[in-house]
Amino acid sequence: MTESLLLRAIRREPLPRRPVWLMRQAGRYLPEYRALRGKHSFAALAGDVDLATRVTLMPVERFGLDAAIVFADIASPLPAMGVDVTFDPGPVIARPIRDQAGIEALADTDPESIAPVVIATLSACRSALPRGTALIGFCGAPWTIAAYLIEGSGAREFPTLRAFAAARPGLLHRLLERLSKSMADYLIAQHRAGADVVQVFDSWAGLLCREDWERLVRPHLARMLEEVGATGVPRILFLQNAPHLVGAYAQLPAEVLSVDWRVDLASLQSRVGGRFAVQGNIDPAVLLAGPGPARAATLGLLDRVDAAGHIVNLGHGVLPETPLGSVEALVEAVHAGSAAAAGPRPFRSVT
Ligand code: CP3
Repeated sequence: MTESLLLRAIRREPLPRRPVWLMRQAGRYLPEYRALRGKHSFAALAGDVDLATRVTLMPVERFGLDAAIVFADIASPLPAMGVDVTFDPGPVIARPIRDQAGIEALADTDPESIAPVVIATLSACRSALPRGTALIGFCGAPWTIAAYLIEGSGAREFPTLRAFAAARPGLLHRLLERLSKSMADYLIAQHRAGADVVQVFDSWAGLLCREDWERLVRPHLARMLEEVGATGVPRILFLQNAPHLVGAYAQLPAEVLSVDWRVDLASLQSRVGGRFAVQGNIDPAVLLAGPGPARAATLGLLDRVDAAGHIVNLGHGVLPETPLGSVEALVEAVHAGSAAAAGPRPFRSVT
């Protein structure tokens, strides 16, 4: 039984080569995804176990990536909390939460019943994937989920959310408390269903200054991570657009810190590499420039960042306009990064 490179990199073991996977690897830049998406809405794809399993496996089959991330959305567990959500193209909340009644109306969750389609998709993916390919479950961080619930949809800099945080800190506290419990339930259920690793996406981490983040957000995120960590599943913590908070996140309980391209990964590694593996952090926009720049950016990253405890990824998700050749060039550069690179693995496909 071969243990995945991803799990071994998380333990910072010496490896024949670094593991590589990409955030948003299952998405619109893939022709096979667009073909399926032509027939089904995003909600229909993510709401069907067989279709979601097929999409999850697509990028792994095409590029031989070291991990699959379950095809779902950060909004997928919200219906279990009684929240009405649609996609256009990002999550849109039918009745944004702006008062105590909205928070109290949220349904309690438990790991046995939350987001059953995502949970069944993880089991199906785990049986389809070879042991050496890791399966990643994920959720949104409480703050990032709260951002959608309060604002109502994605918005530039989330002004309604920031006004709410300033005016109603007690209510924000109550909302984050509920979300941190439900997201912990959700990740625990994903791990039980076969996720080898879980990633917490704090995509809107950077909206507050450090003092406000410490006071309003940190205790809830820390509690969620602790609860999930008690199961033993490794935790990847991703923060986006928040260079001023990286030092604070490096004090949270997790195994991997994943940062965007604004952060120098080599210097982060030299500061926290004794405690964390690091993940990232090629600028996804560089891939738009084609295979040459993608290869150069990858080789530059491999050169600067120490191999021990480094998981190669982008700094944020693959953009829909990304040429396939750029992703191929990135993956090839990682595979060629060591003479002892493993050959292609057998893959049992589900269709
Ligand atoms: O990474 C993967 O391949 C797994 C699938 C995945 C999706 N969403 C599918 C999706 C993951 C991990 C997510 C997480 C997610 N969703 C985040 C955190 C990561 C990040 O990007 O910061 C956030 C903030 C969302 C919210 C969201 N969902 C947005 C902003 C959008 C629309 C814009 C966009 O980037 O595509 C979505 C819709 C969505 N989620 C799509 C996909 C493939 C596009 C849907 C389509 O086909 O129309």
